[in-house]
Amino acid sequence: MSYIVLITGASKGLGYSLTELYLSKGDYVIATYRRNLEHLEKIKDNPNLLLYKMDVADENSVKDAFEFVKSKVSHIDILINNAAVYLEDKTKTIENVDIEKAIQTLNINSIGPLRVLKYFFSLVERGNKKLIINVSSEAGSISNCWRDREYAYCMSKSALNMLSAILQNYSRNKGIKVLAIHPGWMRTDMGGPDADISPEEAAEGIYNLSMKEWDVNDKNIYMDYKGNLMTW
Ligand SMILES: NC(=O)c1ccc[n+]([C@@H]2O[C@H](COP(=O)([O-])OP(=O)(O)OC[C@H]3O[C@@H](n4cnc5c(N)ncnc54)[C@H](OP(=O)(O)O)[C@@H]3O)[C@@H](O)[C@H]2O)c1
Repeated sequence: MSYIVLITGASKGLGYSLTELYLSKGDYVIATYRRNLEHLEKIKDNPNLLLYKMDVADENSVKDAFEFVKSKVSHIDILINNAAVYLEDKTKTIENVDIEKAIQTLNINSIGPLRVLKYFFSLVERGNKKLIINVSSEAGSISNCWRDREYAYCMSKSALNMLSAILQNYSRNKGIKVLAIHPGWMRTDMGGPDADISPEEAAEGIYNLSMKEWDVNDKNIYMDYKGNLMTW
C-alpha cells in the first residue's frame, strides 16, 4: 500500500532524507520548505512529489499551504512535523540567555507543529494510516536532563512532547496514533559534522516505525528512531 505523507522542513537534513526515502518506497510526498528548495531542487520533477512553501512560524503561511494541499489531495496518511531550529549559543548561561532567540525557538519548534496540526489534522483524520510523527529530541526529556544551558531548544522539545501527549489523548478515539520520536544525533546543519549517525539512518528508523501497526491506547509514545522508549 502506498501512502500520502506530509513532511515539514524538507529542504535539507532529516526532512530531505525522509522525503527521498518515502518517495523511493513508492509513497506520495508533500514536502514543505521555509525558504528555498535547497536539496529538493534535485528531485523537484518527481511526479510523486508535491512541493509547497510553508513557514511553520506564520499562521497565514500554514493556512495557505493547507488550502493548497487540500485542493490537491483528499487526505494525509502520515504527517511528520520535522521543521525546527537550534539557535543556541553554548557560551550563554542563564545570566545572559538571549530572550528573543528563545521566543523564536519556541515559536518554531513548539508552536509550529501546533499551527500545522490546527489545519492539517482534519486531513489526517481522513487518512488510512492515521499517523502523526512529531520529531522530538532527547533534549526534551525532563527526567533525563543533563544540560546546564541550551534552555530554549530543550524547553521547545519538552513543550512539543506535551503537545504529542495531549494530542494522543484527543485523537485516540479517532484511531489516530501520535509518536514523539528522537531521531538520534545526526550529521546535519543542526547536528554538526561530529554527530553519531547520518540523517539517512535516522530516516530509515523513522520510516520503519511509521510502517508498524500501533495501539492508539498505548501512552508510551516517546521513543528514539530505533523504537527504544524514552522517559518524558
Ligand atoms: N540534528 C540532530 O542531531 C537532531 C537531534 C535531535 C533532534 N533533531 C530534530 O530533528 C529535526 C530535523 O533536524 P535537522 O538536523 O535535519 O535540522 P536542519 O538540518 O537544521 O534542518 C531543519 C529544517 O527545518 C526547516 N525550518 C526551520 N525553521 C522553519 C520554519 N519556521 N518553517 C519551516 N521550516 C523550517 C529548515 O529550513 P531552512 O532551510 O529554511 O532553514 C530545514 O529544512 C528537528 O526537529 C530537530 O530538532 C535533530
